[in-house]
Amino acid sequence: NTVNISMQKNDAEGNASYSNLAKGVSQGDWVTISTKFTLSQTEGSTYLYIEGSDGADLYVDDFSIEAEPETHPESDIAGLKDVYAKYFKFGTAVTESELAPSATKELILKHFNSITLGNELKPENMLDKAGCIANAEAGNEGEVSVKLNNSARTVLNFARDNNISVRGHVLVWHSQTPGWFFKENYDENGDYVDKETMLARMESYIKGVFEVLGEEYPDVDFYAWDVVNEAWLDDGQPRRPGTYEQAPQGNLSGWTAVFGDNSFIPYAFEYARKYAPEGTKLYYNDFNEYMPQKTEAIIEMANELKEKGLIDGIGMQSHLDARSGSDAFPSVSAYEKALKAFTETGLDVQITELDVTVNDNTLFDEQAKYYSDIMDAIVKYKDSVSAVIFWGVTDDSSWRASQCPLLFDADYKAKPAYYSITDGITPVEPTSTATTQPKTTTAVSETTTSSVTAKTLGDANCDGSVDISDAVLIKCYLIDNNKYPMSEQGVANSDVQGSGNGVNAQDAVSVQKYVIGIIKNFD
Ligand code: GLA
Repeated sequence: NTVNISMQKNDAEGNASYSNLAKGVSQGDWVTISTKFTLSQTEGSTYLYIEGSDGADLYVDDFSIEAEPETHPESDIAGLKDVYAKYFKFGTAVTESELAPSATKELILKHFNSITLGNELKPENMLDKAGCIANAEAGNEGEVSVKLNNSARTVLNFARDNNISVRGHVLVWHSQTPGWFFKENYDENGDYVDKETMLARMESYIKGVFEVLGEEYPDVDFYAWDVVNEAWLDDGQPRRPGTYEQAPQGNLSGWTAVFGDNSFIPYAFEYARKYAPEGTKLYYNDFNEYMPQKTEAIIEMANELKEKGLIDGIGMQSHLDARSGSDAFPSVSAYEKALKAFTETGLDVQITELDVTVNDNTLFDEQAKYYSDIMDAIVKYKDSVSAVIFWGVTDDSSWRASQCPLLFDADYKAKPAYYSITDGITPVEPTSTATTQPKTTTAVSETTTSSVTAKTLGDANCDGSVDISDAVLIKCYLIDNNKYPMSEQGVANSDVQGSGNGVNAQDAVSVQKYVIGIIKNFD
């Protein structure tokens, strides 16, 4: 019989989130199961569940909770963001409670230069129900009230204080979006509103999210946003009408309930484009992107949005399963096929939620091999991939903790998968963060970790092409950057050697070589 330990955390507003922590197998004997968890820094409540499979009897004894001893992650291994600096941003998702241990913070600062808030910017956390109801009562059915809560602030403060870019996740989604958002008077028992009202709510919501973030976090670099998440099913069809509460794991969507189909998607992108700060890249994000009919539906939609200039990229969540190694799902070739097809749209691709489960923790070498094959496939398309983001930092804090899907274990130690994806790639010098190096005030050094969007290597003057004027600008800039300034994006584009430490003379030489055709790329 299997015994599962899972946890429910309710935040101050009563919103619940769940995670599977550990599992053990017993043939009728006592087994020891240990796991690690972090309590939220803000008010709320936590429930720990210990459950047997198939209703089997279960006895619990010697239960204890102990404070974790102070630990530090390994300092003598290369930072992942430095290993991959030549190719793309390297990020992780993190929730407020996952961020609590100082060792997790240390791991993030060493390895990642992009953060996705795991839950805190989702509609269920950004919507202010009381404010919405008040709007409806005042006759403004189409107006939404948006707020930022303290859990979001904890993570955003960390990103801001350490100069780490943020991937916004997510504006329009069927899941973790309350049913009342789609109903008349914002009442969960009411009827669905009509399309016109829902469009007004969608616009008001998107506007509100960008407003509250812009006001409170003007210095955080939200370089990318998932505008729509998971609108297509594996068979290439829209979700079925219904609310998330009716079937949290099901195929239902309030958006389909109101619109009848996926015709809400272009509006979401239109509003996001309208209200997002200039330069923010907008993505459609989904899982199982390698199911052929789903790949096709996403590409068709993306091409239409691209024609209208509304979308910048496709997010492949990439929740993968190495199982026992030989029977991985998807196969590396199926994954690569979808990745290639997405890059062929001409849009950017970001790997947004990578994690790879295994059947049990004796299979970490198999997991490592699969991770390395997947990363090799991603690197093949590096010119079209601007970020690779993992969904979590350490195994024990993952939403799929019992299947150990990440690169670091519960003791913050790098697993075989870390070594398999870093092996053979020379890291650049570590980029600076507030904890390792104080932030300086010149524009040049600030650019080492902040606010640049997808890079066009060599395009120093940001005019969309790489030519001799870029090489000249880099040289002039190096001689006198007051007289010949460069934008922050320009500095990032000019760092073609990928040193991560700004521009140097070698970069100017490489751009020159590139322009006259001596080199074909900046590897
Ligand atoms: C999906 C969502 C994420 C997250 C994960 C599981 O992939 O896009 O926001 O909820 O599931 O944690």
